[in-house]
Amino acid sequence: MNTIEKTDQYIFNTYGRIKKVFVKGEGSTLWDEDGKKYTDFLAGIAVCSLGHCHPSITETITHQASTLIHVSNLYYTQPQADLAKMLVEKSFADRVFFANSGAEANEAAIKLARRYFNRDDGNKRYKIISMKQSFHGRTMATLTATGQDKIKYGFNPLLDGFIHIPFNDINALKDALDDTVCGVIMEPVQGEGGVVAADPQYLKSVRELCDKEGLLLIFDEVQTGMGRCGRLFAHEIYDIKPDIMTLAKALANGLPMGAMLATEKAAQGFTIGSHASTFGGTPLVASVALTALSIISKPQFLQECREKGQYFRERLNSLKHNYTVIKDVRGEGLLVGMELNIEAAPIVEKCLEKGFIINAIQGNTLRFAPPLIITKGEIDSLVEALKSIL
Ligand SMILES: Cc1ncc(COP(=O)(O)O)c(C=O)c1O
Repeated sequence: MNTIEKTDQYIFNTYGRIKKVFVKGEGSTLWDEDGKKYTDFLAGIAVCSLGHCHPSITETITHQASTLIHVSNLYYTQPQADLAKMLVEKSFADRVFFANSGAEANEAAIKLARRYFNRDDGNKRYKIISMKQSFHGRTMATLTATGQDKIKYGFNPLLDGFIHIPFNDINALKDALDDTVCGVIMEPVQGEGGVVAADPQYLKSVRELCDKEGLLLIFDEVQTGMGRCGRLFAHEIYDIKPDIMTLAKALANGLPMGAMLATEKAAQGFTIGSHASTFGGTPLVASVALTALSIISKPQFLQECREKGQYFRERLNSLKHNYTVIKDVRGEGLLVGMELNIEAAPIVEKCLEKGFIINAIQGNTLRFAPPLIITKGEIDSLVEALKSIL
């Protein structure tokens, strides 16, 4: 039995996998089992932002794996403390809770928002407002928060207390608010929903409304954070701050890690015993995240991400004129979407044949989330391939 046969026979049939087995990676390049080379414009869905097997990441893993891997959160470890300090120093936040995935980080954020308002004075705020087309994960609370029906199918009854409103529509938010709402969760740039950015004025108004009503604003930066959008966190583009932010994906460059960051005020919603995670912030993943964060947060690195993102979008936009199947090119930094007026999946397949890994979302949109170390030359090669395919 080969790898594909074994996978298809023994693993749950929950992923529509492309029949390719990858065996090795270096930088922005992946190799399949036949030795064919690919340029990776997906980075494991916005995860391996420093590319595959980055020497500093590999060195950190090797060193920490031979020093200390796990002791539990019954004790203290230095990598976890150092990472939390650095995340706080580089963000709006005062405190960090470590988890293992994006869904788990969002689950923590939802729990924190509810518990923050669960006071002895009889406060009855518990509802969370989220956006249509959003994606927040696959656990029960996060799939309930998610604004896409296909993710929820077959899982009724969903959790009580979630309201979905159209994205970028401030009146919809005003209409949804009442004294049962505790928080608003949203992605500054919707990723799975089609790479759709929040309108700057809208986001400012959301912040103002949350302040006025005393609500917690949660930014899900699981996909947009860690430099993906050209700033360390995408909300910096908009110059506003959330009360709570979630991270995962690129946080430890491929090792599973999530985090919830919060202001001191919001963090008071949790007390000893109110939340926990066995694997959250192990010395191994925390040391890797510390290395990744030290590299990604350098102003020069982020500046280059912005420049390459701009260049990428310009190159894709320049195709619009000759290729009328292209409806829209959008995104921030190196999270780029190209909406087509044809199905996107066949384009993904053709790209793979030509040695480029890209991704299709929402049926008709190509998503590009390359390692942030991608070069302009690699972008040029993909654009040439796309030309011949389109
Ligand atoms: C914005 C956003 N939130 C949450 C998640 C869920 O993350 P995970 O798959 O690590 O649970 C994702 C995953 O794609 C995401 O894009």
